[in-house]
Amino acid sequence: MNSYESDKLLGEYLLFHYGSAAEIAPPPGVEYALDYAVRCVTECVGALPTGARALDLGCAVGRSTFELARLGATATGIDFSHRFIDAAETIRRDGTFGYYRADEGALTTRLVARRPDVDPARVSFEVGDAMALRDDLGDFDVVLAANLIDRLAAPARFLVRVPSLVKPGGQLVITSPYTWLAEFTPWTKWLGGFERHDLRVATLDGLRAVLDPHFDLVAVKDLPFLIREHARKFQLSIAQASIWRRHDGD
Ligand SMILES: C[S@@+](CC[C@H](N)C(=O)[O-])C[C@H]1O[C@@H](n2cnc3c(N)ncnc32)[C@H](O)[C@@H]1O
Repeated sequence: MNSYESDKLLGEYLLFHYGSAAEIAPPPGVEYALDYAVRCVTECVGALPTGARALDLGCAVGRSTFELARLGATATGIDFSHRFIDAAETIRRDGTFGYYRADEGALTTRLVARRPDVDPARVSFEVGDAMALRDDLGDFDVVLAANLIDRLAAPARFLVRVPSLVKPGGQLVITSPYTWLAEFTPWTKWLGGFERHDLRVATLDGLRAVLDPHFDLVAVKDLPFLIREHARKFQLSIAQASIWRRHDGD
C-alpha cells in the first residue's frame, strides 16, 4: 500500500499541519521548526494580485492550501493520496476532523484538526497526480510544491509541466529536504544528489537546468521542519526553499 494512505501517516500529517505546539510537544529547542505548512506560504509567497489563483501540489491534508487562501487567493490543493484529500476536504467542508496522535506503543490521544479562519468556498481539494495533471487546470499566480519533488517517481515529468501552470510574472515555490530514496524515485531520475563526470550535482542545479529557461530564481532559503512520530521520536529536517518568478511573456 502507498504509505501516504496509511493510518500512521494520516495521523502524523494531521498533527504536522494542524497540531499546536502543546499537542506536538517537541523536545526543547526545536520550536523554530514547527508550523512548516504555514511557513511555506508566509515565508515564501509574496503579495498576490486581486482575484489570484493558487495551486498547492502534493498538498497532503491541506494546511498550506488554506494558508494560500488566507493570502486572498482562490486555492486548489491536489494530492495523490485519497485519504489525505478526504481529510482535507472534510476539514474544508465541516471545519474539523478527528484523528489520533501516536504517543507510545498502542497508546494514542484523540485530537481534532480545525480549519484555519478562511472562507471555505475559496478552497478546493482533489485527487490528482502531479506528473499527469488534468489538462484543464488553467494557470496560477502562485504554485507551491512543498516536499513533493523527492517523492515523485519522475520529478522531471512534473517540472516540464510547471511553466504552463504559472502565469507570466507569477510565483513558483519548491521546497524539499532532497531526501532522495530509490523506493520513491529510481536513482536515474533524481534531480541531484549524485556525481556526474566527477562533479557533484546538487538538486538546486538540477532544478535550475529545467527551470532557468522560464523562471528567474528570486531567493533560496532554509526552512526547518519537525515531524512527530511518537512522544519520544521526532524527525528534524531542513528543507531548501527555492522561490522562482516566471518570465513575462515567454
Ligand atoms: C512528503 S509529503 C509533503 C506534503 C505537504 N506538501 C507538506 O509539505 O507537508 C508528500 C506528499 O506528496 C504526495 N504525492 C506523492 N506522489 C504524488 C503525485 N504523483 N502527485 C501528487 N501528490 C503526490 C503524497 O501523497 C504526500 O501527501
